[in-house]
Amino acid sequence: MAIPDSFLDELRARSGLVELVGRRVKLTRRGREHTGLCPFHNEKTPSFTVSEDKGFYHCFGCGAHGGAIDFVMQTEGLSFPEAVERLAIEAGMEVPRGAPRDQEAERRRKSLYDVLQTAAEWFEGQLAGLGGQAARDYLQRRGLSEATAARFRLGLAPERRDALKAALLARQFDPTQLVEAGLLVVPEDGGDSYDRFRHRLIFPIADSRGRIVAFGGRALGEQRAKYLNSPETPVFHKGDLLYNLANARKPARDRDQVIVVEGYMDVIALDQAGFANAVAPLGTALTEAQLGALWRLSAEPSLCFDGDAAGLRAAYRAAERALPLLRPGHSLRFIELPEGEDPDSLVRGRGAAAFTDLADNAAVLADLLWRMHAEGRRLDTPERRAGLRQELRAMVGRISDQTVRGYYGEHFKAKLDAAFGPPARRGAAAGRPGGGGVFADVRIPARHGLGRGEAADTLRRERLLIAALLNHPELIHQVFEDLGELRLGSPELDNIRRAIIEMASSGVPLDLDGLCDNFHDGATARLIEELTGPGIAKLDPFARPDMALARVVEDWTSVYRLHRLSDLRRDLRLAEEELSRDMTEENLARFSALREAVEEAASEAVDITD
Ligand code: UTP
Ligand code: MN
Repeated sequence: MAIPDSFLDELRARSGLVELVGRRVKLTRRGREHTGLCPFHNEKTPSFTVSEDKGFYHCFGCGAHGGAIDFVMQTEGLSFPEAVERLAIEAGMEVPRGAPRDQEAERRRKSLYDVLQTAAEWFEGQLAGLGGQAARDYLQRRGLSEATAARFRLGLAPERRDALKAALLARQFDPTQLVEAGLLVVPEDGGDSYDRFRHRLIFPIADSRGRIVAFGGRALGEQRAKYLNSPETPVFHKGDLLYNLANARKPARDRDQVIVVEGYMDVIALDQAGFANAVAPLGTALTEAQLGALWRLSAEPSLCFDGDAAGLRAAYRAAERALPLLRPGHSLRFIELPEGEDPDSLVRGRGAAAFTDLADNAAVLADLLWRMHAEGRRLDTPERRAGLRQELRAMVGRISDQTVRGYYGEHFKAKLDAAFGPPARRGAAAGRPGGGGVFADVRIPARHGLGRGEAADTLRRERLLIAALLNHPELIHQVFEDLGELRLGSPELDNIRRAIIEMASSGVPLDLDGLCDNFHDGATARLIEELTGPGIAKLDPFARPDMALARVVEDWTSVYRLHRLSDLRRDLRLAEEELSRDMTEENLARFSALREAVEEAASEAVDITD
């Protein structure tokens, strides 16, 4: 019996081709498609295209072509049934029984699950039994209740060399299976295999469907490694799994929040304190696959690493790794713990409410990235500032989603400008707080606010656009169409714009006195005076009357495009809010149209990432 098409369709739909391919290939959005460098042949310019809508990828260079299942088969060297199985696990689906899977591999995997399940029961028995008293005392000292220990199926590996081996051999499992399951170690010198886990508290590790696939063991004595994990096996790929994922899935989706911590004990302590939505990687940095799994649970997973230097490094590493994977609306948050605390010590010492407080005040990714690059750094010379700027630009360049990248570009540009003004207009801002002249020791203080807001930027752009027109009447005919579509937030500036258009279309040459006569309010006339006066150089050199027309046209057009982009983005935000309030076809169509318009405008506009 073949796997039903309906199942495969559902699997393809749930697998998210762009996300899947995006783990291996840096993709850039182009209209409805994504493109990148083909993973199947060597190329320097992207000819590999992925269409989420159509559900396939195609390489115009080498002709590679297929869907999600093909991609997994080709990139991971799996058979069709194996690839289906692999995707099904990630999607939380069960392949219908009776499907023609690779019989032999399947039988072996089955028996591995049996071995692991049996081992888990045996470890649990050891913890509950006569030899388990010391380990039970240890758990009690650490504040874990018996119910919690039972829920996580904690166990004990005794201090003996082959206690588990003997027990499982007695149950008719064969030694090669036990080795394959990662339970026994074979010494290099070819001696007898022995138990991997000895004198350790045992944490069974389940896959996303809740089947036990591996173990973690915490030293109960003076062993060298505090924690020891199963090695990679046919059923355990530690980079793909998260500890406690199967149990945390529902609570995480219900609360739309998933908490990521560093250790097993952190997950368990949080669970006991009422946070059942916590998971942990398995002793390694978060992988892209793990980030993908987290984003299937919640739009903004909260990372809560230990309050020490290593924890901060882990947060930074996760932030870096997330950049190419960011999509509109989905990001990461960072819960910061006091120095020296981990989630386990925190909830035990200060209680669940203290943790909730910290979680509610989690930092957003953009702030963490800013701190990571800028905080505590000397920025007292042009080169050092340029260095920071370049670093931020490179970082933003790693975001593959165009919309998100655009926003990040603007965000950091605003933060840099707020910290020491835009580079071209630096002169006016010489005497900054901090004193000591132009290059005073400027350090970015910790937790810098956003500073100059979007509204101020918009107004500056609007004034610039009108000032250039007033100072260069020839410009009007070159940008006439754009001028007609230009939307200005300032009513005075818009009055001027309309008057300019009117004069130009009636063939009257633009003269300032004539223009001023149009306005009966003093404010607009004063504004015209200001925009044509000597102070205009402060706004931007291109608006000055002595600038060459070609340069003025070029600069005006790029400012206009930026302005239109930010306009469209505001519309898009409003449309999105409207859509979330009211999911109608009409609102959806408007939202989608705007999203496309924004993407198109973004590819025309020049910003910090260019
Ligand atoms: P920690 O040392 O922070 O663990 O390592 P913890 O949970 O606070 O340990 P306790 O409280 O002393 O029991 C975090 C995680 O890193 C991995 C494990 O997955 C652990 O849960 N780790 C740590 C290892 O794999 N090996 C080690 O030797 C140490
Ligand atoms: Mn700890």
